[in-house]
Amino acid sequence: MRLTLRLLSSAIAKRPFYVTTPIFYVNAPPHIGHLYSAVVADAIQRFEKLISPDCNVIFSTGTDEHGTKIQQAALKANLSLPHYCDTVSNEYRQLFKDFDVEYTDFIRTTEERHTKAVTHFWNELLKNDYIYKAKYSGWYSVNDEAFVPETHIKEEIRDGEKIKVATDSGHPVEWTEESNYMFRMSAFRTHLQEWLRTDGVVTPAKYQKQLLDMLRNDTYFPDISVSRPSSRVHWAIRVPNDEEQSIYVWLDALINYLTVIGYPDDDAMKLRGRPWPADVHVIGKDILKFHGLYWPAFLMAARRPPPRRLLCHAHWTVDGSKMSKSRRNAVPPRRAPAPPAALRYLLLRGSTLPHDANYSETKLINIANSELADTLGNLASRCCGAALNPRQEFPALRRPHPRARPLRDALDRLPDACYEHYTNYEFYKVADAVMHCLHQANLFFETERPWELKNRAECQSELDAVLHITMETLRVCGIVLQPLVPGLAGRLLDRLAVAERGWRDLRPSWQAADAIHETRRIQGGKFVLFPRISKDKDNLHKKQASA
Ligand code: ME8
Ligand code: MG
Repeated sequence: MRLTLRLLSSAIAKRPFYVTTPIFYVNAPPHIGHLYSAVVADAIQRFEKLISPDCNVIFSTGTDEHGTKIQQAALKANLSLPHYCDTVSNEYRQLFKDFDVEYTDFIRTTEERHTKAVTHFWNELLKNDYIYKAKYSGWYSVNDEAFVPETHIKEEIRDGEKIKVATDSGHPVEWTEESNYMFRMSAFRTHLQEWLRTDGVVTPAKYQKQLLDMLRNDTYFPDISVSRPSSRVHWAIRVPNDEEQSIYVWLDALINYLTVIGYPDDDAMKLRGRPWPADVHVIGKDILKFHGLYWPAFLMAARRPPPRRLLCHAHWTVDGSKMSKSRRNAVPPRRAPAPPAALRYLLLRGSTLPHDANYSETKLINIANSELADTLGNLASRCCGAALNPRQEFPALRRPHPRARPLRDALDRLPDACYEHYTNYEFYKVADAVMHCLHQANLFFETERPWELKNRAECQSELDAVLHITMETLRVCGIVLQPLVPGLAGRLLDRLAVAERGWRDLRPSWQAADAIHETRRIQGGKFVLFPRISKDKDNLHKKQASA
């Protein structure tokens, strides 16, 4: 019922579905944490297309290229700023290509169209009287690109020296006194509270509560500085009509979500189907405050509605501490000892949005081997291989199989269960439900002993039934898995010669009384969907990395 309604409503409303990732700083190459956000957003947009194939999806990602951090990184790399930004930005593009992150738009904050959007947005804030000039002093964290309130500073001894650091991020802060433009953040407290009381605007609810708690706490809510002296931050967009001041990188960065859809050009936005407000901003919990307080306030001040939903996720850790460039424990995705499909699978299968997940090579290899190679890949190879399937067919269903009941029951429940899981962004539950069906299918296959049936002429139709039910399980699981591992699922469906791959094609054959099931030829040849990763390779890889 719900499925029908959803399909119907998205068919009527032609408005595009707009989902974003954060735009990533180019101060260091991408690591697994960045990939995670991109893969979560990609799974969301793929699911959306799966349930409504006509839906126009805008999926944006990109790179955040202004500010002190970037200035420092380019200097260290001994490259000109534009060249440095090009290099790292291209690494992100390549990463997304390798991992099937199918964005429609890639934005860089150094692009002309973005400068135009930011300048226009600034002028709107000014016109609406939300910006004023003032002297500002406070503790600034270059790493976080933010002023940190006194109450969120602590002292630490590092390398024998006493320094002040931000309590939340652990990054060092420095005392800064400057003349700045300020944004009247304090004017938005009540509006933000109202917005944050709307069910589901921040998901999971835990993060919505955190934002409401921040609002209750006075120290979090002064007006905020939205410019820096150009003498300090020269690699930035200038404040209109004031060369001495540069626009705060976070204001600059957040506006990317508008630049992508053609802001401020009304015709351009119309052309893209007016996709504002964005449907989902995927973000990490480290940037929750910027997206959950600053961004909606900026938007309200510019008389635009806040986003429909922030989807916030926890962090990937290594040995319990957050994977990050500044902690030097970052794992570049390329260095993972498994093919992209396996890492992508681990990221979505081995995490939940509210809780941190720990990354380890052992975990990656174990999950890839047991679930992708053994449970899925091996079953696919067996029923598609010439040994048990010499005619290379997906046989028609001629009669129900009495012992297939538990498998059929599991498969009958799969579509609705997974629809629910995808809608709740519980990707691990999708993988879990699929694996449950595949375990049932393996059990069924083992019990029916098709390798014995194939030698007895009188058992041909029984063999066909076993193959049909198993291949039907693989077909349904393959369709469901597409948002999680699109490449792998695609190859499985190709092999089974499955042309229709939408959510509406999920109904198992035995449920569809009206459908005609003809025997079809499958693609021939040797078939290894996912080769097992040997632990030795893991060692070899480590050796290569250290060489
Ligand atoms: O903050 N685990 O960029 P950034 C999970 N440019 N996700 C992680 C992660 C980890 N260990 N580390 C990073 C910025 N991420 C700004 C954003 S948006 C308008 C501007 C992901 O390069 C997560 O999504 O520091 C986090 O919020 C983002 O990368 C931060 O990337
Ligand atoms: Mg960061």
